[in-house]
Amino acid sequence: MKPQMDANSPHIKATHKPKIFNNSERFIEGWYWVIPSNNLGINEVKSITLLGRKLVIYRGQDQQVAICDAYCPHMGAHLGEGTVEGNELRCAFHHWKFNTDGICVEIPCLDEPLSLKLKTWPTVEKYGIIWIWTGEIPRESVPFVPELEFQDYEAVLGSSFVINCHPHLMMLNTIDTQYFQGVQVLDIGFEKQELNQNAIIFSKYKRQHHDLPFKKVFRPLYKNPIYSICYWYGSTFTLTVGTDLRRCYLMLALRLIPGEQVEVQTIFFTKQRKGLFGWLFNRLMLWLSNSLVQELISDERNILQTIQFNLKNPIKVDQSIMQLINHVELQKPLMWKTWLLARSPETEVKETQTKWRDELTND
Ligand code: FES
Repeated sequence: MKPQMDANSPHIKATHKPKIFNNSERFIEGWYWVIPSNNLGINEVKSITLLGRKLVIYRGQDQQVAICDAYCPHMGAHLGEGTVEGNELRCAFHHWKFNTDGICVEIPCLDEPLSLKLKTWPTVEKYGIIWIWTGEIPRESVPFVPELEFQDYEAVLGSSFVINCHPHLMMLNTIDTQYFQGVQVLDIGFEKQELNQNAIIFSKYKRQHHDLPFKKVFRPLYKNPIYSICYWYGSTFTLTVGTDLRRCYLMLALRLIPGEQVEVQTIFFTKQRKGLFGWLFNRLMLWLSNSLVQELISDERNILQTIQFNLKNPIKVDQSIMQLINHVELQKPLMWKTWLLARSPETEVKETQTKWRDELTND
């Protein structure tokens, strides 16, 4: 039985003021897109700034990508000025050399290198994109389209663009039931399901009405309609939409950039199909997916760029938005620029009290 939603329902209790959602000082520990793979050649090193932190990315002879902090642990020279030697990175200033784990392997003026380490970050390449994990050890996988998890698929990079809004606002726009119900006058809602600790799925359902006779004739064309969104790490989201006959799969990888802006990289997916017809059909689906993104963005761009988000008076049909906010609030928050754990004042008070008690016990 689907939950009954009524747009005329009285107000429901607003969530506490979010600490992570729509907060440009914080982001969630997770996988974030860095640059397209083909923008980094073998022996190439680049300087990047991601979520406020200065980093260096390079590709060694073995084609593997490494990402490390930008500043040399000797005297702070920017390693983006360095050179790649084999699979290692040499600082341009005094020529200290570091391997892909960040371990110092050579100091030219010493017989033995010092035992020190440059900070490195977990990195993978997937869908033609280089991804970085913003913590020590990845807890979950790089985002994927749940509906394609056990399928062979083809991934194609789309365009990247910038919108003047926080990534979270762009995310919630796709599950705004009131928008679908109130503005578009459709009788729909969303059901949520936790995929893992960092990913949540919202699937749209539509209450059944009796089909018009002519629609019954074409029903096979509309078999198994789906509109499902999966949010990963409070940033990247995937969208699966369409029927058995024509289904689009796409991913919007988002990241916050200075000035309360979101930088978006689109990735499109199709199931693998054989032969010329399969190839042509996939091109059509990729084109449809791209059109879908353009439509999503152009319809809402002005609203997203001018909104001052504050869900002060939610009603029942805002439930999915509140569920998404709650999901984001339960994630591990990091601070912009330092990537250190962002603790809420309550946590800090609790920890101080525990520490104080422990110290008393030790006395
Ligand atoms: S600053 Fe890098 S080796 Fe001295």
